[in-house]
Amino acid sequence: MAQQRILTGITPSGTPHLGNYAGAIRPAVEASRQADAESFYFLSDYHALIKTGDPERVQRSTLEIAATWLAAGLRPERVWFYRQSDIPEIPELTWLLTCVTGKGLLNRAHAYKAAVDKNAADAADPDAGVTMGLFMYPLLMAADILIFNADKVPVGRDQVQHLEMARDIAASFNHRYGAHFALPEAAVDESVATLPGLDGRKMSKSYDNTIPLFAPTAELKKRVFGILTDAKAPGEPKETEGSPLFQLYQAFASADETRAMRVRFQEGIAWGEAKEVLFDKLEAVIAPMRARYEELIAEPERIEQVLKSGAERLRAKYAIPFIARLREAVGLRRLDRALATKTPARPKPQARPQFKQYGEADGRFYFKFIDGDGRLLLQSQGFASPRVAGQAVAAIGRGSDFAPWAELAPGATADDVARACEALRAG
Ligand code: TRP
Repeated sequence: MAQQRILTGITPSGTPHLGNYAGAIRPAVEASRQADAESFYFLSDYHALIKTGDPERVQRSTLEIAATWLAAGLRPERVWFYRQSDIPEIPELTWLLTCVTGKGLLNRAHAYKAAVDKNAADAADPDAGVTMGLFMYPLLMAADILIFNADKVPVGRDQVQHLEMARDIAASFNHRYGAHFALPEAAVDESVATLPGLDGRKMSKSYDNTIPLFAPTAELKKRVFGILTDAKAPGEPKETEGSPLFQLYQAFASADETRAMRVRFQEGIAWGEAKEVLFDKLEAVIAPMRARYEELIAEPERIEQVLKSGAERLRAKYAIPFIARLREAVGLRRLDRALATKTPARPKPQARPQFKQYGEADGRFYFKFIDGDGRLLLQSQGFASPRVAGQAVAAIGRGSDFAPWAELAPGATADDVARACEALRAG
């Protein structure tokens, strides 16, 4: 069997903090050392343009994040490590996918809907401040994944919907042009640490409670001593449960060290001393990486070289031949060859078509109708309750028109839906 392909993108915006390291960078670097997968890690700098219009910031952040991953132990000779904007086949594929994707699919993307909802709350125009970049984000992300036919995509919870969309988009393309894409799956690792920040809430740039991964030693110390604690005096037993200080320690210490720290909490270690222990631990883990990081940052031409070489090899091996096949498939062809006389037959559905009902983060309930080969046929609007959504499904099943509740996906016909309903009713 071919090696599994694991792919993930890192958007270069902002400075990486301890939470990014423990939650994303460290597990990814560890996974990349396993030999049974082919891994793709890339800097999604096209995505960064959606979030910021500041060119210096994009450049600086790309450099910093590339250096961070290399300093954290990513081995560019063992994994594919590249920059999205060095692969022109990605935006090219984005367009091919755009043409088989319903606008309705993108209307439902969480980030876009959140912007529209906010505008509604502010009594502004629904699309005020919404760029086409924000709107098309899921399509660009689908192209990132599909250009290398990735099987598994490690992402955070917030990205799961984008993976669902990538599958829908891939299935639409496959249905129209033949089976070119594998359907990718999200891999959400529930076991990776979500680190608390200085104030005990999740460490996040938006809460301004982070500890930058490569802060200089003095600043690291200052931040650690700024971690929120309760008012328990030295000698009083302290709770480990819910203590940000303890959780941070646990994320960087061994199991034995963590056990010992637990005992010291019970014995009433003074907060000042606990902070000292945490700082020493962090410094021990981070200092060697920080030194490598600083060396790397001082030689940007080396990083540039690593990224360029990754992209070049990757394009030659996969992206260029694959986009050539896709261009051929959609009819972007040489003119001096005989015209193809017929388009290939539709692939036969492998499994029974099905209705899927699901809730979304917007609190509404949806259904969709999926063909046996995974192709999206019908997509509903949002309903206030699962019951109302279920009634609409039932009505369609009885043969009434779907138009009041749902729209056809591009490439699907009312006939497709009728046949699928038939098959459903039959058994
Ligand atoms: N959207 C992802 C994020 O903000 C980054 C990303 C871009 C990505 N392209 C991707 C992740 C492809 C996985 C696969 O976190």
